[in-house]
Amino acid sequence: RSDLPTYKQAQVESHNSAEARIWVTYGLGVYDVTDFAENHPGGDKIMMAAGSAIDPFWAIYQQHNTLEVLELLEGFRIGNLEGGLAETSVETELGSPWAQEPQRHALLKPASKRPFNAEPPIGMLAENFLTPNELFYVRNHLPVPVITEAEYELEIETGCAKPPLTLTLAGIRALPKHSVTAAIMCGGNRRSEMTKFKAVKGLSWGAGAVGNAKWSGARLCDVLAQQGVKPDETRHVIFEGADLDPTSHPYGASIPLAKALDPRGDVLLAYEMNDEPLSRDHGYPIRVIVPGTVGARNVKWLTRIVVADQESDSHWQQNDYKGFSPSTDWDTVDFSKSDAIQAMPVTSAICTPQPGSRVRVDEDKDGGHVTVRGYAWSGGGRKIVRVDLTNDEGQSWHVAELEQEDQPDGRHYGWSLWTARLPVTEAQRKGGDLEIWAKAVDSAYNVQPEKFEHIWNLRGVLANAYHKVRVKLV
Ligand code: HEM
Ligand code: MTE
Repeated sequence: RSDLPTYKQAQVESHNSAEARIWVTYGLGVYDVTDFAENHPGGDKIMMAAGSAIDPFWAIYQQHNTLEVLELLEGFRIGNLEGGLAETSVETELGSPWAQEPQRHALLKPASKRPFNAEPPIGMLAENFLTPNELFYVRNHLPVPVITEAEYELEIETGCAKPPLTLTLAGIRALPKHSVTAAIMCGGNRRSEMTKFKAVKGLSWGAGAVGNAKWSGARLCDVLAQQGVKPDETRHVIFEGADLDPTSHPYGASIPLAKALDPRGDVLLAYEMNDEPLSRDHGYPIRVIVPGTVGARNVKWLTRIVVADQESDSHWQQNDYKGFSPSTDWDTVDFSKSDAIQAMPVTSAICTPQPGSRVRVDEDKDGGHVTVRGYAWSGGGRKIVRVDLTNDEGQSWHVAELEQEDQPDGRHYGWSLWTARLPVTEAQRKGGDLEIWAKAVDSAYNVQPEKFEHIWNLRGVLANAYHKVRVKLV
């Protein structure tokens, strides 16, 4: 199709809404699917690909791989992609610390490429109770270390009478195996919403810096008890990763010893994620899973554990991942005055419909309604007990149906998915615009705050205000 114009990637990216027109690419073709989008049999899912490539989506949604669908698409062709798919990359440069980064799924949208940080499209997140490994968000601070099973060792220093212990991968696998379903959420999840109120510093995460998985491994409490570690409310357990910063300091974090020793804390030396060996991006061969606790403490590529009187002295424990008052700015901030984040606060997010999408109103005998789906989670093992939705700014609320594991409160570490049918009034249909709000309630009756204004903090962490999504009704 050399008769057609050529477009740059950036031009395609700018056509990502009905207003700007919806362009997508498939192979080398550029397509304008604006007029088709409203009638798409797969609904507003098509918007996940607006301004980008549909290839990785179609690899998952196989119903498109027919001649009819390809012909339909070809009818929307407007041009070709400049430069084709060729990518020159620093990754292949010899000697670069990034030379051995793993392959990633094309649907993980990078917030930064080096180090690699990416989340899946929000519209896919609530499709699976257990997030598929290759679509689980990735948060790396440094290049991914290269570790072989033969070389791998985990050092454990407890400061007790017993000498330090060195475990191999086989040694960890030989310990009793324990599994736990736990969501891991980055402290900066939903930062992009907070920064709209007032700019914060940090990677611009949407609501997809969270995933839910079944983790399996040895229990840290068993290993520590075996080493003679006794409960002590004042002590900490420090974790170090094999990823080193340019000054050769490893990524590090710590948790209270009480959490590590509590059998109900379910802290794992994990080697499996959803019954598969950990992938390199998620910490191969061993990472610590600290259920209910902010992602930052779930140290990947774990090489050293130290039981100590103080918290980890790492940058990420001391000078990052802490909350502050909305009035604290970069001139007045004193990181030593705030506690490191451990358990995360209650939150929820709407996954479908997506912001800005056109939503069809379903008719039934009680009038029209729209279906809304999302996730909810709270830290510290607190179970989600309710998710409320409104489409009239809180004048009326509708309770969502929950999908969750049957686990006792205090140990409810997995997320809850939810679905709600929201009635739509005639007036709303005439107006055409709808704003949907979601808020979750946990077992301690903690509830999300309404506005980011009152929880704003300079690093944009703990961004758990109501999730508000504006859509157009068709
Ligand atoms: C279904 C076209 C993009 C998700 C379909 C069908 C067509 C179609 C013709 C019906 C297939 C059948 O059942 O025979 C297109 C075109 C696209 C596009 C022309 C061009 C941009 C996408 C994207 C996604 C998606 C990007 C996902 C992110 C789906 C799903 C269904 C579907 C989930 C199945 C709906 C159901 O069976 O209930 N699409 N699609 N589509 N599409 Fe797409
Ligand atoms: N562990 C190491 N060694 N290095 C890291 O950069 N990032 C942390 C944590 N563990 C990190 C780490 C942060 S901030 C988060 S949110 C989670 O890993 C992300 O885990 P994931 O990439 O498996 O989703």
